[in-house]
Amino acid sequence: MHIRLSNTNDLEAICAIHHSAFGEEERESIVELVINFLSQPSDYDTLSFVAEEDGIVIGHTIFSEIKFIEHNTKAFILAPLAVLPSHQNRGIGTSLVKHGLNYLSSQGTEFVFVYGDPKYYSRFGFHTENSKNFVPPYTLQYLHGWQYLQFNKSSFPATPIHLSCAPPLRKPELW
Ligand SMILES: CC(C)(COP(=O)(O)OP(=O)(O)OC[C@H]1O[C@@H](n2cnc3c(N)ncnc32)[C@H](O)[C@@H]1OP(=O)(O)O)[C@@H](O)C(=O)NCCC(=O)NCCS
Repeated sequence: MHIRLSNTNDLEAICAIHHSAFGEEERESIVELVINFLSQPSDYDTLSFVAEEDGIVIGHTIFSEIKFIEHNTKAFILAPLAVLPSHQNRGIGTSLVKHGLNYLSSQGTEFVFVYGDPKYYSRFGFHTENSKNFVPPYTLQYLHGWQYLQFNKSSFPATPIHLSCAPPLRKPELW
């Protein structure tokens, strides 16, 4: 298994992964989110990674830029992440996340956010401590799922900071 940046030829396989991995309630909106990310140019940096094995794409994730309003801080959000059900529990999701985090860290990113199950994301160092200080663009349905990690611990905002996300994530139902 290896991880690489996705290209336009991967779109169909990527959509199939999310469609099969997510439950009925979420899959349509997640597939739409992926298509929007991969087909719309944006001034928010977007990194799309696939996990590939024997020429077959079996996992996918996107890290997209988050802008801190009135602060010049480099930040990203991880969303979405999925692995083909037939290939889950073999460390592929972990490899995708770690690959992205290593890359972002090497590029000087300071914060990475995620909105998901802490039971899964805590293994990478994501946590909820002080996460209320980072105000997402929409009201969260599950406050406990709003997590982040900080690569460089030297600075921390003293007052709540408002965040802006890439256009594909600008849908209240995703938050
Ligand atoms: C979440 C997901 C990407 C993990 O991929 P994976 O390749 O199976 O994950 P890994 O093999 O790296 O890790 C497996 C571990 O994650 C745990 N795990 C998987 N999904 C989880 C979830 N939604 N919440 C909490 N833990 C989860 C497994 O129980 C396993 O735990 P263990 O290491 O203690 O045994 C995959 O299960 C998936 O595609 N799920 C559906 C889509 C989804 O829910 N994505 C968002 C996640 S919040």
